[in-house]
Amino acid sequence: MKTLFAGMTVAAVLCAGAATAQERGPFAMQIDARQGIMAYRALQLGVLGGMAKGEVEYNAEAAQKAADNLLAAVTIDASMLWPKGSDHDADPSSEALAAIWAEGSDIGAKATAMSEAAVAMQAAAGKDLESLKTAMGTVGAACSGCHKAFRLPQN
Ligand code: HEC
Repeated sequence: MKTLFAGMTVAAVLCAGAATAQERGPFAMQIDARQGIMAYRALQLGVLGGMAKGEVEYNAEAAQKAADNLLAAVTIDASMLWPKGSDHDADPSSEALAAIWAEGSDIGAKATAMSEAAVAMQAAAGKDLESLKTAMGTVGAACSGCHKAFRLPQN
């Protein structure tokens, strides 16, 4: 009996493992990596946003560092992290919509807007709080503009 139970447990574990691998599809690593880059952007934006909202006292050095990091995270070549077929329908752990790869998708324009906003933020963040606040509006709009079009709606 004991052996039977042990055998059943092993079988259950193996099945669970197989099911997970299947659900995640072939692009699990790409999805994890791009989500990590997004999370890193969000961390830097949190620093800048905290200052813009007055929750954290403005500090030119810390603001500059966050803006430098944000720009680095936006500039990194992530092209290999977005293979067609790595959307939410193919792998539920992704929040990417298939619209990214659809005919006429303007994901490229949205990524360009993001780059420009991050460059502007990098020039503004260390200057003074007012400059940071102005740049923050454009950066926030670039993030949410792309999310609204290409990421699963958040609730
Ligand atoms: C050009 C489009 C685009 C831009 C610009 C963009 N994102 Fe995203 N973001 C996405 C997509 C698509 C996903 C879903 C990725 C997935 O789950 O596979 C995502 C997911 C995320 C996530 C969730 C990551 C996770 O762990 O699941 C965070 C956080 C995030 N983005 C933050 C940001 C921030 C902050 C900015 C602006 C500084 C930004 N994003 C700009 C497209 C974009």
